[in-house]
Formats: sequence, structure tokens, C-alpha cells
Amino acid sequence: MNAVTKLLAMGVLGTTAALAQAQVNEIRVWAAACAACHGTEGRAVPGMAALAGKPQSAIEQAMLDFKHGRRPATLMHHIAKGYTDEQIAQIAAYFAAQKP
Ligand code: HEC
Repeated sequence: MNAVTKLLAMGVLGTTAALAQAQVNEIRVWAAACAACHGTEGRAVPGMAALAGKPQSAIEQAMLDFKHGRRPATLMHHIAKGYTDEQIAQIAAYFAAQKP
């Protein structure tokens, strides 16, 4: 059964949950782009800033500061510019929910 068939089979009631799950999967894909440097699910190796379990507001604020040039960075200002403010809020919420 492919994904679309599954969605249809779940019917109207299941669809809302399925869409919520699809959204979570999408946020996971965005967050995976951070894993190369900040570790799998934000659990970084020593010496690198971990993201897992940090307050959502702190991650979000740091990303917005990088994006708008308010915080000096070697590369995070480039990375942060690749996301909308809405995506940044969702990525921050995702990492805040991970176990450190
Ligand atoms: C290529 C490596 C790399 C990737 C990919 C990367 N980062 Fe970073 N990140 C850094 C570095 C290096 C710093 C330190 C600031 C700087 O020099 O840019 C940093 C700093 C940060 C900080 C501040 C941490 C603190 O405690 O001060 C946050 C928050 C952050 N990154 C979030 C993210 C998010 C979210 C993503 C994915 C969308 C991401 N980073 C992807 C390398 C990376």
C-alpha cells in the first residue's frame, strides 16, 4: 500500500492525524540538515553546540539573530537564511523536544 492509498484508507477522521504526521516528517527532514554538525537529533559530539533539549526560544532566537546578522557567525548566518521564520520556529520546537 503506498502512502496515498494509506491516506485515503484512513478516511476523513484519520486524515488530520496523517497530515500532522506528514508535517512532523517534513520538520525532521529540515532538522536532519543540522545533524552533520550538531549531531543526530541535535546530540552533538563534545566541542560542538548541542541543540537537543535546549529551550525552543533559545534555539529560535539564535537562528533569527544569525539570519538577520545580529549575531556574528562563521557559517550559521548562511544556514539560517535558508529557512523561513516559521520553519525556524518548527525546527527549534523539534530540537527542544529531543532528549539531550
Ligand atoms: C556545517 C555545519 C553546521 C550546520 C549544518 C548547522 N550548524 Fe548550527 N552552528 C555551526 C557552527 C560552526 C556554530 C557556531 C556559530 C558559527 O560560527 O556559525 C553553530 C551554532 C548554532 C547555534 C547556536 C548554538 C549556541 O549554543 O550558541 C544554533 C542554535 C544552531 N547552530 C542551530 C542550527 C540549526 C537549527 C541547524 C540546521 C537548520 C544548524 N545549526 C546547522 C555549524 C553548523
